[in-house]
Amino acid sequence: MQFTFYGHACFAVEVEGKKLLFDPFISGNEKAKSIAVDAIEADYILVSHGHEDHLADVERIAKRTGAKVVSNFEIVTYFGKKGIENGHPMNHGGSWNFDFGTVKYVNAIHSSSFPDGSYAGNPGGFIVSSKEKTFYYSGDTALTMDMKLIGEYEKLAFAVLPIGNNFTMGVKEAIIASDFIKCNKIIGIHYDTFGYIEIDHKKAIADFKARGKELILLNIGQTIEI
Ligand code: NI
Ligand code: MN
Repeated sequence: MQFTFYGHACFAVEVEGKKLLFDPFISGNEKAKSIAVDAIEADYILVSHGHEDHLADVERIAKRTGAKVVSNFEIVTYFGKKGIENGHPMNHGGSWNFDFGTVKYVNAIHSSSFPDGSYAGNPGGFIVSSKEKTFYYSGDTALTMDMKLIGEYEKLAFAVLPIGNNFTMGVKEAIIASDFIKCNKIIGIHYDTFGYIEIDHKKAIADFKARGKELILLNIGQTIEI
């Protein structure tokens, strides 16, 4: 499975030959200037919640690629009004079988409003299951007991968790989350983009290692096989 990091909370995973792009926020990210937004391919765009640092480039990429936008009902409706008819609305606890595998929309503890302040539904995360493997992207969230349900009933190959603190979990909570979801391979996101979420990379990796866990921090634009 190929995983590419585009900065902040934006990443792409290739699942069964389909390109899944998560939370595109690139053109507004000073740190992601090296990424050519108009060269990114996508078959699906999954959006965790309504904040600008997760959906700023959805319209631009969806209109160019024709990718299907998968998110909660409110966010899919919002993009529908912007002319993106190819959407798939979900809500918490529900799952759907796509041509690459199954997506379940799960709880996150955070807020969610559109850049204009209007209601964007409740924030969420995604569990993506395919013949290849299952992974979890929590979206912006606090550490939550709901993660224990995921650990109990899913077999995760890896998880993508925010580690920047202040707006979401920090490293300390992400380590506990990794216990809750019973997954020791974590890709860290949502750090360093703004002053509030700068972290010490070496310490974060060492803190995970001390608990027998692997924290993967990628350079912006880097692709790995996972
Ligand atoms: Ni947010
Ligand atoms: Mn965010």
